[in-house]
Amino acid sequence: MTAISQSVDLDRRGAVAVLTVNNPPVNALSQHVRQGLHEGITQASADAAVKAIVITCAGRTFIAGADITEFGKPPADPSLHTVLDLIEGSSKPVVAAIHGTALGGGLEVTLACHYRVGAKSARFGLPEVKLGLLPGAGGTQRLPRVVGVPKALQMIVSGDPIGAPDALTFGLIDEMTDGEHTAAAVAFAEKVIAEKRPLRKIRDLADKIGEARGKPEIFAEFRKSVARQTRGFRAPGNCIKAVEAAVNLPFAEGLKRERELFTELLNSPESKAQRYFFFAEREAAKIPDVPGDTPAKDIRKAAVIGAGTMGGGIAMNFANAGIPVTVVEVAPDALDRGLGIVRKNYEATASRGRLTMADVEKRMGLITGTTDWNAVKDADIIIEAVFEEMPIKKEVFAKLDGLAKPDAVIATNTSTLDVNEIASATKRPESVIGMHFFSPANVMRLLENVRGAKSSKTTIATAMTVGRKIAKVPVLVGVCYGFVGNRMLHQRGTQAEKLILEGALPHQVDRVLTDFGFPMGPFAMGDLAGLDVGWRIRKGRGVKSPVADRICELGRFGQKTGAGYFRYEQGDRTPIPDTDVEKIIVDVSTSMGITRRPIADEEILQRLLYPMVNEGARILEEKIAIRASDIDVIWVYGYGWPVYRGGPMFWADQIGLPALRDRMLEFKKQSGDDFWAPAPLLARLADAGKGFLDK
Ligand code: 3HC
Ligand code: NAI
Repeated sequence: MTAISQSVDLDRRGAVAVLTVNNPPVNALSQHVRQGLHEGITQASADAAVKAIVITCAGRTFIAGADITEFGKPPADPSLHTVLDLIEGSSKPVVAAIHGTALGGGLEVTLACHYRVGAKSARFGLPEVKLGLLPGAGGTQRLPRVVGVPKALQMIVSGDPIGAPDALTFGLIDEMTDGEHTAAAVAFAEKVIAEKRPLRKIRDLADKIGEARGKPEIFAEFRKSVARQTRGFRAPGNCIKAVEAAVNLPFAEGLKRERELFTELLNSPESKAQRYFFFAEREAAKIPDVPGDTPAKDIRKAAVIGAGTMGGGIAMNFANAGIPVTVVEVAPDALDRGLGIVRKNYEATASRGRLTMADVEKRMGLITGTTDWNAVKDADIIIEAVFEEMPIKKEVFAKLDGLAKPDAVIATNTSTLDVNEIASATKRPESVIGMHFFSPANVMRLLENVRGAKSSKTTIATAMTVGRKIAKVPVLVGVCYGFVGNRMLHQRGTQAEKLILEGALPHQVDRVLTDFGFPMGPFAMGDLAGLDVGWRIRKGRGVKSPVADRICELGRFGQKTGAGYFRYEQGDRTPIPDTDVEKIIVDVSTSMGITRRPIADEEILQRLLYPMVNEGARILEEKIAIRASDIDVIWVYGYGWPVYRGGPMFWADQIGLPALRDRMLEFKKQSGDDFWAPAPLLARLADAGKGFLDK
């Protein structure tokens, strides 16, 4: 074995040269990998004893793409294009041996090879779109030539990978192997040599793209079919244009067009935000004082207390991950109702073809309902989701303390109560933690894990690990009212209410946010969640919200009653502006002595979002969040902040903190309201010309 570069080795197996990439953790195409591949192919080509070349990878995966950390830095030779030209132009057959994930630039390397052999468990994809990019090393030109236009469009625009059996069916791989992938590829290469098979260059294939040539309607139709899910993103449009170029232009010109479209995206704010977010999401898994090797408890069995809105959804997450879960309720009818809703949810998914009925039964089989508390005795983790009242929570925790295994993790799904006080009801506060799921709990990816003052490192590590196991994105936060997400949301809500009293209308406020990229605005969200919940809480506390109270007094509780801030047609969730509500709002303004004025969209946006950033700054200063990027992860996964704008803290940095602070000071002057006082951290960073994310 000869070391070609720090990450590529060259070996010989008979007449086959084997180039092995070893660049942990995911064999990204860093400069030294490209260099090594270039040099290795050159050496193997020059060696008369070599008749074919295999490219394979060490470790857990084939090349998972370009090295994302190199984007935005000056390009370093050799470029990936140069390497791919060399591979494709090789006079000796080059075979890719693929295991793990061949993604992005990694799949593009395989497409420049003459043949591809894939492990049965391997996955193949072009996920660049998820980074706001397109496959920029020939992927948009070569993939349609192999798998055809419809499949290529679907793969490139969704960014989702396909498995080996699918890849074989579509011709993306030439052979699928159950055995060791490198050995299989070497055997394949030997067959190619023995049979004198031709060098199959994808660039020269035309049969699968011919059909779509000169047919713009195919692309227009596809654009329409993905319009809703790609709204606001820049990359999908360019991906489609690049595939269209593959169909209509000669290969070399298509490549040039791909390059232009790629460069446009690379320099776009959307891609910058999405690349930032890729690392932000992974960073959230890191907790400075709970290192990655902290032992987490193995979760073989879970229990959920309460089968209401949240409890049922939380139980589904465990069943979906194959973990048996017991749901404990106080009353049999509440239990039946809760588990009935779980079944209905699964059946609805099955009716859309996303689960088989056998899957439904299997998952339901993992969920056991009971009113017998002894059932929690063998659970490794217990998650409480009962009514949001401190005395009830404490009673439940005291009871669990007496029943749970000594090393069980006991979590609360509370959204507003003090996790430390709840933990104090037990003799083992070190085993207690908050696990704040978001509604609907079986759908929303965010999980705020709330670290109590006494939560042990093992408890924290367990909550983080099990969170990922049940397909959530866990972010660790500290104890405060509303934690991170809802505490910031509250600031936005306060301004939304003020804006409608000063002159805006609910549909204008909501539209500003949906134009920004949120799936819905605060008023439509209130209608969806039910306005009666907040009304009841306000009545209990003797607090008033003049417009919301008047709307509720009319029995308008939102979508469930067909009307709230908006009205709804039967069987349709589209919010329709309602003149009755507008009258109420104008009335309330008048009764409060407010002279209504037209409010520009820009002011609405700033007044809704700047206070959130300001609250984020306070949260950081109080160390409730570990880092600014964690706040962004919370907002993207929990509240639909558009990922192509990074998250509130990233977004604020792009605006520039001095400009943001100055605008807040203007609002403060205009309103005379201390609400607008910049948080000390924001003021300090702005003075220093820094951003939240500057190291
Ligand atoms: N570049 C640089 N670092 C990368 C990377 C990449 N392409 N992909 C992953 N990493 C890093 C992660 O940041 C993480 O680092 P950390 O341990 O310090 O946090 C580490 O590798 C492990 O990654 P994951 O935690 O994500 O590991 P998983 O096993 O869960 O997932 C994976 C592996 C499926 C490969 C996943 O990492 C992934 O999806 N990676 C990105 C793939 C991608 O987007 N490729 C396209 C790149 S763009 C491109 O190729 C352009 C080309 O067309 C020109
Ligand atoms: P819910 O009212 O739908 O369900 C609560 C369930 O707990 C009921 O089925 C009730 O019978 C049961 N219950 C009450 N006391 C019990 C006891 N002593 N033992 C066992 N079961 C008991 O309430 P929901 O909405 O599911 O909320 C539960 C918790 O989740 C609350 O702490 C809430 O703050 C929190 N939460 C709610 C969210 C939401 O959007 N609904 C979002 C995030 C957290």
